[in-house]
Amino acid sequence: MDKKIIFSGAQPTGYPQLGNYLGAFKNWSNLQEEYNCLYCVVDLHAITVRQVPADLRKASRNLLALYIACGLDPEKNIVYMQSHYSGHAELAWILNCFTYMGELGRMTQFKDKSAKNEANINSGLFTYPVLMAADILLFGTHLVPVGEDQRQHLELARDVAIRFNNIYGDVFTVPEAYIAKSGAKIMSLTHPEQKMSKSDDDNSQINLMDSPEVVMRKFKRAVTDSDTEIRYDKEKKPGISNLLEIYANSCGISLDSAIAHFDGKNYGQLKTEVGEAVVENVMQPIQTSFADISANKDYLDGIMKKNAEKAAYIGEKILKKVKKKVGFVV
Ligand code: TRP
Repeated sequence: MDKKIIFSGAQPTGYPQLGNYLGAFKNWSNLQEEYNCLYCVVDLHAITVRQVPADLRKASRNLLALYIACGLDPEKNIVYMQSHYSGHAELAWILNCFTYMGELGRMTQFKDKSAKNEANINSGLFTYPVLMAADILLFGTHLVPVGEDQRQHLELARDVAIRFNNIYGDVFTVPEAYIAKSGAKIMSLTHPEQKMSKSDDDNSQINLMDSPEVVMRKFKRAVTDSDTEIRYDKEKKPGISNLLEIYANSCGISLDSAIAHFDGKNYGQLKTEVGEAVVENVMQPIQTSFADISANKDYLDGIMKKNAEKAAYIGEKILKKVKKKVGFVV
């Protein structure tokens, strides 16, 4: 029986943070038995904003290594660089011809990004969602784990797939959002009513590459409340509740056990213990593994190459079909 396909992409700009890990990556290894998963470092998307070449190269390798360090088995999942398989760009071109200017102009991320990059509103920024649609549709993807900010783009991918299928018959699988069964929702340390996000200010998030000192400092500065009691109440005490969640998830214990553990303790103790739990149970294992993987260039190169080939093997079948349908000589 064929397994369903999951595709996810992340830009090599900035590193994933604790919320990504506890909310998503930590559970990825559970998905690898049930699904065929592709995790792509989307370097083609990254150049829609001007990048320093050496930095982009380094960040791309690091992100791939970090995925593996977070527990993704590169033998069981396809972890690779988007630019290593040209099928992404080829399909994106074809899909460009099936996507309307009006649709792209309505994308809120395009509006936001063009407001922020007034000096460089390039056409790649405009057609960014088409490349993302190509990423997804190229592999017959069934499920895409996406955050709120990418919902509109996924919706567009679905619309384009349906439009193409209406003209040429069933070529593309129409993808759906994957909603994780488990996984914590970790909030910002400085604005605990918002989700932790890598695009917010640095003190609001624990970056997976942060040193232990930085992690401890960020937790010490975490926003709490003017009360003194450690109690779980998401409405009235969002900061404290978030720290309790982080503690429970980092230690792999229930929320109730975490609450009981802090009974009678003060906010200072809570912050210190949460920081220590995150450093010891999350950051150190990931960073140690990351350092090992990064130290072995050949190993990572080998994985990248092999996995790009695996991706191409799947992608080519669909791409060939698409080329034939639109009338190319194949
Ligand atoms: N646009 C996504 C983001 O910035 C990254 C991405 C590119 C992606 N292609 C994708 C996510 C395909 C899911 C599926 O987060």
